[in-house]
Amino acid sequence: MSSYVTKKTLGDTEWFEHDRFGMFIHWGLYAMPARNEWIKHIECQTDEIYDKYFKYFNPDMYEPKKWAKMAKEAGMKYAVFTTKHHEGFCMFDSQYTDYKCTNTPAGRDLVKEYVDAFRAEGIRVGFYYSLIDWHHPDFTIDTKHPRRFDKNAEELNQGRDMKKYAQYMRDQVTELLTNYGKIDILWFDFSYSTPDPGFPEWMKGKGKQDWEAEELIALARKLQPGIIIDNRTELEQDIWTPEQYQPLEWVKHSETGDYLTWEACQTFSGSWGYHRDEATWKSPEMLINMLVNTVCIGGNLLMNVGPTARGYLDYRAENALKVYADWMKYNSRSIYGCTMAEPEFTAPRGTRLTQSVDGKRLYIHLVEYPYEFLEFRGLADKIDYAQFLHDGSEVLYTLGSVDHFSEARTESADLVAFKIPIVKPNTIVPVIEVFLK
Ligand code: GLC
Repeated sequence: MSSYVTKKTLGDTEWFEHDRFGMFIHWGLYAMPARNEWIKHIECQTDEIYDKYFKYFNPDMYEPKKWAKMAKEAGMKYAVFTTKHHEGFCMFDSQYTDYKCTNTPAGRDLVKEYVDAFRAEGIRVGFYYSLIDWHHPDFTIDTKHPRRFDKNAEELNQGRDMKKYAQYMRDQVTELLTNYGKIDILWFDFSYSTPDPGFPEWMKGKGKQDWEAEELIALARKLQPGIIIDNRTELEQDIWTPEQYQPLEWVKHSETGDYLTWEACQTFSGSWGYHRDEATWKSPEMLINMLVNTVCIGGNLLMNVGPTARGYLDYRAENALKVYADWMKYNSRSIYGCTMAEPEFTAPRGTRLTQSVDGKRLYIHLVEYPYEFLEFRGLADKIDYAQFLHDGSEVLYTLGSVDHFSEARTESADLVAFKIPIVKPNTIVPVIEVFLK
């Protein structure tokens, strides 16, 4: 069994740590401007400007069944959908606001359709819920708010009451966790207690006090025992969520040093919401490496799609999902139920290791394809058999020594020298599956 034990928390993280790979879905009115989900903030748009999106939001091509199929093919086992992003617009039929999809030309509960479609494909269902809300009349203007540069911002804040807003969130979370069956993840986003520099004193950041986070979380746990909750309310819960960067080692607790359950969230290109003109799309190699790099240090990957305003995934997102589908079809065994390899194994240069949690199989990911041998020390007395994962073809090896003919020979009692075909197999990152004794 794996010797890495993550810090025990209230949520049911067992399935989560097994499944490793999920789909993030950022979808809201911001798909229409198609210039980033923060557009209202970036362009300091007034409600009047933003209302145009509300008026014309009509995702006539929304077919979540298709998304769910694509997610499944890509090997994604769970999904997290933006029920409300910072813009405050609700993708579900909430009784506590008019600012919701059912009041737009969309005319239906989009969350409901997502839930049904993904569940039908056997994909676990999660909800993202923004703590930030740039539409709610009680949400005070702060350093991230679209009205932050207004001359009368301080005045506009008079009468706004965060307590009422906190109640609104509890009401909506109650709806979300009552009306849609079993929800596996609740992904709150986010806190920013440290004020941004250059803003007046009164314009503070927001954190757990403002959200009344303890109450909010207690409520969620009561409604859905076992639900996984992230940390972004500013209260430590079940999962740590490094965003848009690749940790280089297992994320550990800063004070206790405990191994944590963590999930990196990443985008295909540089925006979460659909961005028509953003062009930093990641290469197929990067996409696969991000997944491998994450699991090889005990983490999960939540990969984002930003559907278009019409409601479909554009060709770039489709292509990126296809990259995962092609690789996962043959190699998912090195991902599901796998974690960081035991410390006794050191990855040879250019490789990444994962190991099945039962300890029986070691996976060597050939991130840099080696020529023509792969020398692996510390494995000789443990290896029983080796094969390529994608086709189950035997990978030959010698024990103790290998002759490289041109006057070079490696000798070492603990050496395994795998013989690697000169032509790289037709898979982005080939994986050697080692059965251990
Ligand atoms: C953020 C951003 C955001 C995105 C999220 C995903 O903090 O505000 O737009 O939803 O992280 O991790």
